[in-house]
Amino acid sequence: MDRHLSDFLNRPLRIGGKTAAARLVLAPMTDLGHVAFRQLLSEFGGCGLMWSEMADARRLPTENPSVSNCFRWRDDETDRLVFQIVGCDPRQMAAAAQRIQEEGFFGVDLNFGCSVQAICRKGAGAALLRDPQQAEAVVAAVRQAVDCPVLVKYRTGWQNDPRPAVDLARRFEGAGADALTFHPRVAPDRRTRPPRWSYIAAVKQAVGIPVFGNGNVFSAADCQRMIDATGCDGVAVGRMAIARPWIFAEWTGRLNPDPEIYRRAALRLISILNLHFAPARALVRFRRFARYFAANLRFGHSLCRSLAAAPDLEAAAAVVEGFFDTSPELTTFPNPNFFH
Ligand SMILES: Cc1cc2nc3c(=O)[nH]c(=O)nc-3n(C[C@H](O)[C@H](O)[C@H](O)COP(=O)(O)O)c2cc1C
Repeated sequence: MDRHLSDFLNRPLRIGGKTAAARLVLAPMTDLGHVAFRQLLSEFGGCGLMWSEMADARRLPTENPSVSNCFRWRDDETDRLVFQIVGCDPRQMAAAAQRIQEEGFFGVDLNFGCSVQAICRKGAGAALLRDPQQAEAVVAAVRQAVDCPVLVKYRTGWQNDPRPAVDLARRFEGAGADALTFHPRVAPDRRTRPPRWSYIAAVKQAVGIPVFGNGNVFSAADCQRMIDATGCDGVAVGRMAIARPWIFAEWTGRLNPDPEIYRRAALRLISILNLHFAPARALVRFRRFARYFAANLRFGHSLCRSLAAAPDLEAAAAVVEGFFDTSPELTTFPNPNFFH
């Protein structure tokens, strides 16, 4: 691995009163960034911070981790786990942030980027980007409620123009945010058009707090290009982290992957899913992972088809074993058709 890149990624990053050990981080992904997947990432190492799946702020204060879908974690990941909440009511968001602080996570992240209709209809997620004052009020209320780092993840906004995003960055910093993750896509674009990295540079220049760049980083070369092109303080990786969970270890110079790693990672995730989830949910989550993982394989569709027919995780493990016993052709670059 390029020493220049790994040296940068291994440099600790100060966020609020805490320090992230590395600058390559896992972006938040609903249904994908769950406790089992994060355990797999942690076993490979190299990931400075991991974002949780997003949780509804209204429900969080009373959420029970032993039955919750997304409010689950392992005690030894709390120091690098950023918990993401979604909502638009400052008081509700503040109460949820307090719960997050009580549980001892690294910090709380406010989702101002989700453009799913059900979320935006309530005025939350990316809808807040249309109402900068309300977005600012949410950040300020959360800031007042907690001492732990407060982070904001957001996107360009509703028009293809960097200026509102720059204005929002200044507002968030002014309201007390400790770091930003910026995904330069317009809402409601669900990753069909390329992100505009130049907007990340504009956001970075506008504020003094750390900015994580995000969007279409699929290789170490992309990662270096984003850092060079934007001056961002760190890089948040989403879909590629699911496809190749070892990239954090690889790009930070801890691991030199061999072809066996594909089989090993998939089978290990199955074992870990078994530890954390009831069988039916574990199977759904593995299939969801497999859609991204299959992008590495020339005949990835056939793996997904076989997994769709597997009745349980044991059968899914047999499918994976059988598939890799045939020495499948690996793609050097993941097939973008798998990446929604
Ligand atoms: C399946 C899926 C679920 C996502 N869920 C969330 C989420 O809950 N919160 C959030 O802020 N972003 C979410 N995102 C967006 C990612 O964090 C990230 O911004 C986006 O995928 C672009 O980064 P990438 O090109 O590295 O994947 C999701 C993305 C995907 C593909």
